[in-house]
Amino acid sequence: MDATRQHLLMCRPTYFAVDYAINPWMDPTAPVDTDLAIRQWEQLRQIYRDLGHTVEEITPLPGLPDMVFAANGGTVIDGKAMAVQFRDPQRADEAPAYRAWFEEAGFEMYDPKHVNEGEGDILLAGDHLLAGTGFRTAHASHAQLQEVFGYPVITLQLVDPRFYHLDTALTVLDEQTLAYLPEAFSPGSQAVLRRLFPDALHATMADAEVLGLNAVSDGRHVVLPVQATGLAAKLRDRGYQTIGVDLSELRKAGGGPKCCTLRLRQGKASR
Ligand code: ARG
Repeated sequence: MDATRQHLLMCRPTYFAVDYAINPWMDPTAPVDTDLAIRQWEQLRQIYRDLGHTVEEITPLPGLPDMVFAANGGTVIDGKAMAVQFRDPQRADEAPAYRAWFEEAGFEMYDPKHVNEGEGDILLAGDHLLAGTGFRTAHASHAQLQEVFGYPVITLQLVDPRFYHLDTALTVLDEQTLAYLPEAFSPGSQAVLRRLFPDALHATMADAEVLGLNAVSDGRHVVLPVQATGLAAKLRDRGYQTIGVDLSELRKAGGGPKCCTLRLRQGKASR
């Protein structure tokens, strides 16, 4: 299996907190250790550097505790960047900050017409754009994504509020292979996934409940929550190298490694 060197965007959790609840993982009354969150995030960044990936950073802004979840900052494919529009007002101000970063970095910009939470719900798998809906990203945005990027969009209906973003229920391992939690999807979407990806790895609820599917693969190495031991074993059986990371503090906001990581795809060659 060949590893792809990746160009990634991350945001240090300087102002991380759980001040509001917009998904079932978030309990504003539970204590959060921001310093520990920062140390855990730095470990994730170090793993990427050790794998040879390039990590860019966007400056975190005070008052935006979820800005650490860079996956929600946009969708970047073939040098085009689609900005985001959050469902919840608490995260609204993150959108222009990420948009400005993409513009400054020289990406061709597109603005969303509907709620669209970026790579949280939109994942490129080979030549298909897998697009989640049901909790955050609006179904109407899927048509715009297809128009902007020119990849066929496959709508996937999420049904379990704990797996509110597609990237909490499904991981792209390489161009042909996925891992996902079947029961996080509607029956029709499960049938679509079986049809398009018959060899996909099916995760268990135990793995998904520790956000094990919120993983980042370069085609050879899979960075995933260290708690997802069952999924890690299945991935190793398939020939992937697994790298566990403990993001226990960020999980209190409903996020894992993938949520903290936005892939910047410059063009076809470096996709
Ligand atoms: N607290 C954040 C929210 O609910 C977590 C976002 C996690 N990001 C992701 N790509 N799944 O919006």
